[in-house]
Amino acid sequence: MDRPVKCAIALTVNGTLHELLSEPRRTLLEVLREDLGLTGAKEGCGVGGCGTCTVLLDGKPVRACLTLAAEAQGGEILTIEGLADLWPGNAPEDLHPIQEAFVEGHGIQCGFCTPGMILSAKALLDETPDPTEVQIREAISGQVCRCTGYAKIVDSIQDAARRLGGGETGR
Ligand code: FES
Ligand code: FES
Repeated sequence: MDRPVKCAIALTVNGTLHELLSEPRRTLLEVLREDLGLTGAKEGCGVGGCGTCTVLLDGKPVRACLTLAAEAQGGEILTIEGLADLWPGNAPEDLHPIQEAFVEGHGIQCGFCTPGMILSAKALLDETPDPTEVQIREAISGQVCRCTGYAKIVDSIQDAARRLGGGETGR
């Protein structure tokens, strides 16, 4: 039986460059979870419908289940594991203000959708620091949550906007 062809892939994830060999057909989600041990991005549907696999690529939300790892080369990938480090002065155990807002505002129940929700919220708040409720709902419209009914998530993102209020550097 032929061995699968592998190619060299270099991915910058949470500020660290990872060089690895991978089959060209493997998704970014597979490589993040299985090769790099970054299991924050979740596999829900696996076909682009639920948003649980969302990570940021150059600041924009992407479905990691639909993105080939090779396609993400050359970009900056942010997963939920790297988010808190972006906040100036954070100690390793500290959360990012968006995460704090979700915890304190009960925007999390089972947590399965939460990494994708929070990263989508970050992308929104980077572009629109004081979003309306409509803008928030639009930004998370591709993220499915089975637990919360979305109201607490919207509240949490509004609270995150207040907490961030001009405090975040351009990272
Ligand atoms: S797992 Fe990627 S969109 Fe559902
Ligand atoms: S908190 Fe359970 S799916 Fe959203």
